[in-house]
Amino acid sequence: MNILIVYSHPSKKSYTFQVFERLKLVLSKQNLSYEVSDLYEMNFQGDMSETEYEREGFIKTELPIAQDVRAEHAKIERADCIIFLYPVWWSDCPAKLKGWFDRVYSVGYAYGQNDSFPKMKTLKMGLVICTAGHPNDFLNEIGIAQSMKNIMLDDRLGKRFEQKEMLILGGTLELEKVIGQHMRQIEEVVIKIKEHSA
Ligand SMILES: Cc1cc2nc3c(=O)[nH]c(=O)nc-3n(C[C@H](O)[C@H](O)[C@H](O)COP(=O)(O)O)c2cc1C
Repeated sequence: MNILIVYSHPSKKSYTFQVFERLKLVLSKQNLSYEVSDLYEMNFQGDMSETEYEREGFIKTELPIAQDVRAEHAKIERADCIIFLYPVWWSDCPAKLKGWFDRVYSVGYAYGQNDSFPKMKTLKMGLVICTAGHPNDFLNEIGIAQSMKNIMLDDRLGKRFEQKEMLILGGTLELEKVIGQHMRQIEEVVIKIKEHSA
């Protein structure tokens, strides 16, 4: 099982970075190999250029695909599982990760028809892990947890992944109350990946 972690947080002082470090440690302990796209570290360009928009919007698949997007396509094709890890900002992922979907999910690759261009593979597993300031109970109560799941799992991961799961690590404003449970949840989800790879 080859794993790609698409990580999006600007600061190494963050809790999300601690989760990232923990995730990599637990994956290594389970002998699961991974590759990382650290979007801020790579200075990944989240904004679409005018040409990219015209390629998507007018389905001009003859227009070129940027080299950094091609590099992400290659990582996807090497992977069996992608883990998206980010903090919840305004009830969604950071704009840089949204931009990853805008640009990397290019027409003819991740959606739409184009016979002259290889299509995105179907991956075995897609896992979304996000940290959130609000507790999970509150995010469930106000319907935001469900909205985030609809958008990430049903739309962005969609049919491109056979198995999908979203882990909302909520309540980070009172971290000491939740950190133990979060770390256990990370271990459990990695064991699921391991079982799926067997
Ligand atoms: C710009 C911004 C927007 C945020 N929006 C939300 C939000 O909509 N819902 C929520 O539960 N937490 C929100 N938070 C809190 C973060 O989710 C929380 O700080 C993060 O999950 C964990 O902190 P970290 O930045 O140390 O990794 C927001 C934080 C920032 C900086």
